[in-house]
Amino acid sequence: MTAPSPALELSSVTIRFGGLVAVNSLSMTVPEGGIIGLIGPNGAGKTSAFNIITGFYKPSSGRVEFRGPRGKTDITGYPPHKVCEAGLARTFQNIRLFRNETALENVMTGAYVRQRGRWWQHMIPFAFPGAAREEDEIRANAIRLLGRLGLERYTDATASSLPYGAQRRLEIARALATRPSFLLLDEPAAGMNPQESAELLGFIRKLRDDFNLSILLIEHDMKVVMGVCEHIWVLDQGTLIADGPPEAIRADHRVIEAYLGKETTDA
Ligand SMILES: Nc1ncnc2c1ncn2[C@@H]1O[C@H](COP(=O)(O)OP(=O)(O)O)[C@@H](O)[C@H]1O
Ligand SMILES: [Mg+2]
Repeated sequence: MTAPSPALELSSVTIRFGGLVAVNSLSMTVPEGGIIGLIGPNGAGKTSAFNIITGFYKPSSGRVEFRGPRGKTDITGYPPHKVCEAGLARTFQNIRLFRNETALENVMTGAYVRQRGRWWQHMIPFAFPGAAREEDEIRANAIRLLGRLGLERYTDATASSLPYGAQRRLEIARALATRPSFLLLDEPAAGMNPQESAELLGFIRKLRDDFNLSILLIEHDMKVVMGVCEHIWVLDQGTLIADGPPEAIRADHRVIEAYLGKETTDA
């Protein structure tokens, strides 16, 4: 039996900031349809790895390959909007919503990456009926997504007025509006109360199944990581120190040491 082809493959990815090697020759894969964890103490390089994959940082060396609906592409050094067009969407460790826009407007923004008409055409509907129709579709789809994420009651509420857990879900809705085949979640449970993070577990699985996604997840909450991830990669000081299924990672002495050594500085 051959292993399923990976949806994402990093080969010897390195990024340096001055003298600091934030990610050091990282090689890892995410299988298609997998829910995969990337963990490690604060400063391990997890978000930097996400920033490299999604085009926010250019790696100093190494390669990022993505297999999306249109086949395998070398996306190394793609700018963020090209990465998004290729089918990867992300959320941010520090929520980045348009704070003064409504929940609906935030989700609609996500869809504009895939828009065929120019953004201004829908404002002159008699001249560009196609664009106006497309705008209606985008709105209808955004409303559907808000429903799927349990956010319908916030449709017209300003993003900044939403409770924290709802803001995190709104970021996921906006990411889904770009129609990704791959979703990267940077600490989705951060700031959630225990009940919200417990709900998040089932929710992430449902997202994967309903939207046919591969998911790569950075998370500090070990209940979430161990509960939902099928495979886990562990970074410490930019370097991969272990990978394996949750049971193996939980018992791995290198992982335990990496976390215990950093516990006092961990947020
Ligand atoms: N743009 C940047 N410029 C300089 N240093 C950075 C930058 N981004 C991240 N770093 C540094 O890289 C290291 C890894 O950070 P990060 O990837 O955010 O870790 P994690 O997400 O695992 O907590 C940290 O020491 C951080 O200060
Ligand atoms: Mg981080």
